[in-house]
Amino acid sequence: MTILKRATALPKDNCLVILAKKNSDLKNFGLTQTAIDAIKKGIAIDRKQIEVSNGNQTVFVLIKGEKEAPTKAIESIRKAGCNLIAACNEHKIKLISICDADKKDESLLALAEGIALGNYQFLHYKMKNKEKETNSLKEIILVSKTIKDTQVNRLQIIVDATCTARNFVNEPPNTLDAVKLSKEFQRLGKEAGFKVEVFDKKKIENLKMGGLLAVNKGSDIPPTFTIMEYKPTRHRNKKPVVLVGKGVVYDTGGYNIKVGNGMETMKCDMGGAAAVGAAMWAIAKAKLPVHVIALVPATDNRVNGSAYVAGDIITMYSGLTVEVLNTDAEGRMILADALAYGEQYSPELVMEFSTLTGAAVAAVGQYGIVCMGTADEKTKAKMKVSGNNVYERLAEFPFWDEYDELIKSDIGEIKNIGGPVGGSITAGKFLARFVNSPFMHFDIAGPAFLSSKEAYRTKGGTGVGVRFLFDFLSNYKA
Ligand code: BES
Ligand code: ZN
Ligand code: ZN
Repeated sequence: MTILKRATALPKDNCLVILAKKNSDLKNFGLTQTAIDAIKKGIAIDRKQIEVSNGNQTVFVLIKGEKEAPTKAIESIRKAGCNLIAACNEHKIKLISICDADKKDESLLALAEGIALGNYQFLHYKMKNKEKETNSLKEIILVSKTIKDTQVNRLQIIVDATCTARNFVNEPPNTLDAVKLSKEFQRLGKEAGFKVEVFDKKKIENLKMGGLLAVNKGSDIPPTFTIMEYKPTRHRNKKPVVLVGKGVVYDTGGYNIKVGNGMETMKCDMGGAAAVGAAMWAIAKAKLPVHVIALVPATDNRVNGSAYVAGDIITMYSGLTVEVLNTDAEGRMILADALAYGEQYSPELVMEFSTLTGAAVAAVGQYGIVCMGTADEKTKAKMKVSGNNVYERLAEFPFWDEYDELIKSDIGEIKNIGGPVGGSITAGKFLARFVNSPFMHFDIAGPAFLSSKEAYRTKGGTGVGVRFLFDFLSNYKA
């Protein structure tokens, strides 16, 4: 992972990156006249990334857009940062110093964030040509007289947590099963200083978590239920914020098996679990003054002779009966038990993250998070601000009572699929039946996994949700 450091003085020899506007003053960077002329030429022909030699030093000047709204401008800077990686590789640059000509630390942090996130690679299983395939850049030095160590440290935590979530998602199903995932959470807890308890199959059976057990019936590997708690001595919230993450380590669809190439990316189906686990690590590392509990029900969804089938009736942890009409709607089955379990903490807010529906992908694609729920409007507004801040934008769906009708079951209380319309909403409505506390559901099926890189969102797992949660909880009740 890329190392971030802070310095007050410009580098003498190593690569320098200057973030600037078209008309920024470039006098104080020790540039030769030849370099300045070359930069001016680049600006004149509207280049956004200008590379010049300054004696022995390679200098990149990145030109900021001028007319964008603040959150969009920051996002453009992240993207510009990411674009730098290819040039670094070309020159085999290991270390860069970055600065902002207009001395805006917020811009500088965004630049570092874009570079560090874009520099992520998943190389666990590469054997040959490792050197050739590995990005050269290892370290970024943020040069500023005003930026604080705490700001740089915090960015390092956010980037590392996002990359940890990406690693979890990218890890193949045969190397990261439900048991291993729970062990990873234990490791994160030890590292960052939060409590982790893991329920095994026996305990899950004793608790009668019918939803989690039903989905797990088709698997040779037992389910796990992980409880993570971070409670600093000083915390702003009276009652905890409860996070819940979908931990389907692999979704074949079960007997309603996924056809075509619908299955091949389904290692991403624990993207919600990865997000809440990695966010817990970040929150604890940064010592945010909030009391947070995260719950992760985990299993794979497979087929064997005892797997659950469409038509089954399941008694859930809450006591509610669910008619299974599609084994591929498994996420809501396991999440329902976690949500009902979370009620014992009397949470002031429940935030649940899941790669829940193809309908969310169809609606907004990889460009945003579909959200809905019963939290108050002020809280929702704050969430949207956080979404824009980190550019994990929220698209709120309606949560009207009429949708409740669509999941009524003939033989049980509710069924696990709705009708042909509002697939993401009926999924959210199903979940809401298991929560009384203020509840928000975040369907990250679109942005959790990319089939090709989009700027600093690298191919594969994106770690979506981590930066959003961190931003939201760092401003929580502030
Ligand atoms: N894990 C999938 C949803 C998904 C789809 C995630 C695409 C990421 C990308 C989920 O378990 C699922 O299969 N949902 C079904 C529900 C349906 C059977 C009601 C769906 O959306 O098709
Ligand atoms: Zn499914
Ligand atoms: Zn699924």
